[in-house]
Parts: sequence; C-alpha cells; structure tokens
Amino acid sequence: MSGSPTTRAQVPTISFARGAPSTDIVDVEGLKQAAVTAFDNDPAGLTGYGTAVGYVPLRSWIAEQHGVPTDHVLVTNGSMQADAFLFDELVRPGAAVITERPTYDRTLLGLKARGADLHLVTLEEDGLDVEEVAALLRDGVRPTLAHVIPNFQNPAGYTLSLAKRRRLLELAHSHDFVVFEDDPYVDVRFSGEPLPRMLELDGGADSAHVVYASSFSKTVCPGIRVGYLVGPPAIIERIRVRATNTYIAPNMVAQGTVYEYVRGPRFPGALERVKNALAERVGLLDAALREHLPQATFRRPEGGYFLWVSLPEGEGHDVARIAAEAAARGVVIVPGTDFLLEGGENAFRLAYSGVQAEDVDEGVRRLAAAIAAARG
Ligand SMILES: Cc1ncc(COP(=O)(O)O)c(C=O)c1O
Repeated sequence: MSGSPTTRAQVPTISFARGAPSTDIVDVEGLKQAAVTAFDNDPAGLTGYGTAVGYVPLRSWIAEQHGVPTDHVLVTNGSMQADAFLFDELVRPGAAVITERPTYDRTLLGLKARGADLHLVTLEEDGLDVEEVAALLRDGVRPTLAHVIPNFQNPAGYTLSLAKRRRLLELAHSHDFVVFEDDPYVDVRFSGEPLPRMLELDGGADSAHVVYASSFSKTVCPGIRVGYLVGPPAIIERIRVRATNTYIAPNMVAQGTVYEYVRGPRFPGALERVKNALAERVGLLDAALREHLPQATFRRPEGGYFLWVSLPEGEGHDVARIAAEAAARGVVIVPGTDFLLEGGENAFRLAYSGVQAEDVDEGVRRLAAAIAAARG
C-alpha cells in the first residue's frame, strides 16, 4: 500500500469511509481500449462540443435499456450533476421534500442549500416507511418530491420492497408529487432477486410521477463521471436548457468511452468481477463484525457498497469520539450523524467497496478497540 496515509504508529490506514471501488476492481485495460475504439469510430463526436442531452449514441443506448424514447433521457457528468439539475428545477425555497432517514449526506446538503422544507422519514430494513409518508400527507404536508434510494441504500445498504414501491407510487399519484428514484447501485447486486424499478412500475415511458437517476460510477468507474436522468420529456427538456447554460454539453470523451465499453466484450466479465469482490468483502465484514463487535446490529446487504452499524442505545456511544479513536488506530469510518439532521450518535456507515479482503478483519479489530476506548 505504498503512498497510503499512515497513523502515528505507521500502521497503514484502512478506510471504510470511501464509497468508491478499489483500483484492482476497475477494468483499466478495458477502458483504455474502449477510449481508443471511441476515438477511432467517432472522432468528430468525441472531440466536438456535442449536445447538452449527452453523447447521442449513449443516450439512445440508455433509452433502449429503459424502454423509453430518447427524449426521456439526459446524460450528465455523474448522477450527482443529474441530482443537482433536478433539485434546481423542482425545489424552491420552502418546498416540502421527503427523504429517507438516514440518507446520502450530499442529498441532504443539496436540498438544504436550496432551502427545502425537509421531512426525513424512517428507513426500515425493507426501505422507507411508506405509511409514515401517508401520515405526513394526511397531516397536510404537500411534497414536491420524495427522494428515495431504492437499492442498497446509501448509507444503510437496505432495499425497498416491491409492496412499498407500489404503495409509494400510489401516494405519488394521489398527492401529485414526484418520486425521485436515485438508483446508482442497482446493477451491483450480488445476491437475491432484482426488483422492478419504480420507473417501470409507473409505466416507463408513460410515467408522469417518477424521475429516475443512475450512473456508471459503480459499474464502470467513478472517475469517468457519467450518470443520467430518465423522466417525463417536459422535465428533461427544461433540464436540457439548464445543462446548456451550465456547461454547453457534458464530457463527450467520457461518454463516448462508456458507450463503447458497455457494448464491448469485456463489460459483462468486469461487472461480475466487481460483484464477486463486493460479495467477498461483505461476507468478511459480516463475519468480522459478529466476532469483534457482537454488540453491534446491522443487516447484511445484497448489493452495493455500504453497511450501517448501530451500537446499543442508552450506552453513551458518541460516534464523533469513536471516529477520532478509530482514526488514531488507523481505521476510518463515517459517523451516522452525517446522514441525519439529528441523532445518529450510536451509528456509523462502513463502506466495503474500497477495502481489500485481507484488510477487513484487521479494520474491524481496530474499530472494536476504538469503540472500547471511546467508552472508557
Ligand atoms: C445515492 C447516491 N446518489 C448519487 C451518487 C452520485 O454518484 P455519481 O458518481 O454518479 O455522481 C451517489 C454516490 O455515491 C450516491 O450514493
């Protein structure tokens, strides 16, 4: 691990903080080949400004994957950019917005920065508590948007059940709000059965109440910065205008490379490798937590990058102290408090995507020592 940060004791740091893959599970060679193919096949398309809707062949490929006409799709520089465009389009200061509790810290930051009136709804092991959403609606809350991460949620790793997907759509129809289906992890499922997207359940091309976002960050690599939105053409068109005014067009070299890569011969095998590595790491993490932190509760995810760990309540756990003690021992975690507006002091997120299999057990040992020290 040359070049990795070290602690006072010069122990290489093990990071459970980064929601990113380790370099060994990125198909660097395949991406290099795809870039060459893309330049060879379409030099004008890759080197010109292009268009704000994204690299046209990739846009068509995405539309085909989702069974929608191309005017439902806009390809962006990462799905974070797609989220930002959608929030700018729909969220005015004071607008009521529902999110999961806990949820992705950058979603909370983005919504707070736009002055949203946030309603965080309990996240259960089978996803958002949709009856709590129904109760908010009965109480007169009129949301513009409900932001949901349906598969292997960030930070909890939980997945929204089929029944809850249907119920949320029912509520979106009866109270006319948009479900923002933020779904970057869907294709990194390593066990269990896939569930239909809410976009599909709502009629795909006919859906008026779902805007879907996904990304190639987890299936290809995050540095490529390619994500996308699928939604009603009227919303997509307004976002196209925003995109034009923001950057003329997104990165055509990146999108052209992704286009060749995902259609090429290496992609299926490379994706399998990613999923196998994630499955191995989560298995080791599960075992290490049971052994070194038997007091912790967590649910082993069926895909994605993250696992949410809760320590027993009422025992004075302070995750800020735990994180500091952990850092001093060469292990990094993200405090639960980062994913909430209040609470989370007895919880933290562990990302296993970037941790080598051989480091998982040692990382959890250090964490257990840190938790003991923080209490002591
Ligand atoms: C729920 C969620 N949405 C969006 C993103 C942003 O992804 P991208 O790399 O496509 O910008 C992430 C990244 O971790 C995420 O967890």
